[in-house]
Amino acid sequence: MNKNINPKQNRRFGRTDKEKLLKQNSIVIWMTGLSGSGKTTLANCIASELNNCGYLTQTLDGDNIRSGINNNLGFSEDDRYENIRRISEVSKLFIDCGVICINSFISPTEKIRKMSADIIGKENYFEVFVNAPLHICEARDVKGLYEKARKGEIKDFTGIDSPFDTPSKPSLEINTEKLTIKESVSRLLENILPKISHNN
Ligand code: ADX
Repeated sequence: MNKNINPKQNRRFGRTDKEKLLKQNSIVIWMTGLSGSGKTTLANCIASELNNCGYLTQTLDGDNIRSGINNNLGFSEDDRYENIRRISEVSKLFIDCGVICINSFISPTEKIRKMSADIIGKENYFEVFVNAPLHICEARDVKGLYEKARKGEIKDFTGIDSPFDTPSKPSLEINTEKLTIKESVSRLLENILPKISHNN
């Protein structure tokens, strides 16, 4: 880092003050899983449930990140690492602002997820493994991308010719093959609400 850059936050109205103002504790809820496993669907559902209860959230996913700040990145191992590194830095800014950040990214390897947790801080990082087997995600093929990947029209597609490491110690696992969306959302809220509830 350039030694003339000073990353200190404004201490006069810091994270704690902002959390108090918003009456919430900020965390990052990080959804990891294959394309089509249900990450964004669940993220949008919990965001609206939390918003209805008065919590301020920000959702981040491929649609708002890869079309903007990360529009120069592809799907090589290095680009995925850089994608998640930048997202983690952005997420840190949101939690410093007291906001609950709900992220949906494949984040395919243990190395990538560890880097993310290190940047965000383990105490702020709640990892959710949105688990559906490859054959189910492929059968859903919501975006038609698995079919293209099988035909060789897309290279380095996660689960086909690019790896996905099963998360070894997620904070929570949601099996979207077995649970309905409603059940998945309840399970998520049960775990998240105690973490974000503000006591003062
Ligand atoms: S990550 O691996 O860097 O975390 P990210 O979550 O941002 O990936 O983007 C994944 C989304 O990009 C997928 O849901 C899919 O819509 C799209 N996509 C396009 N090409 C690929 C690919 N080669 N592998 C995986 N997803 C891809």
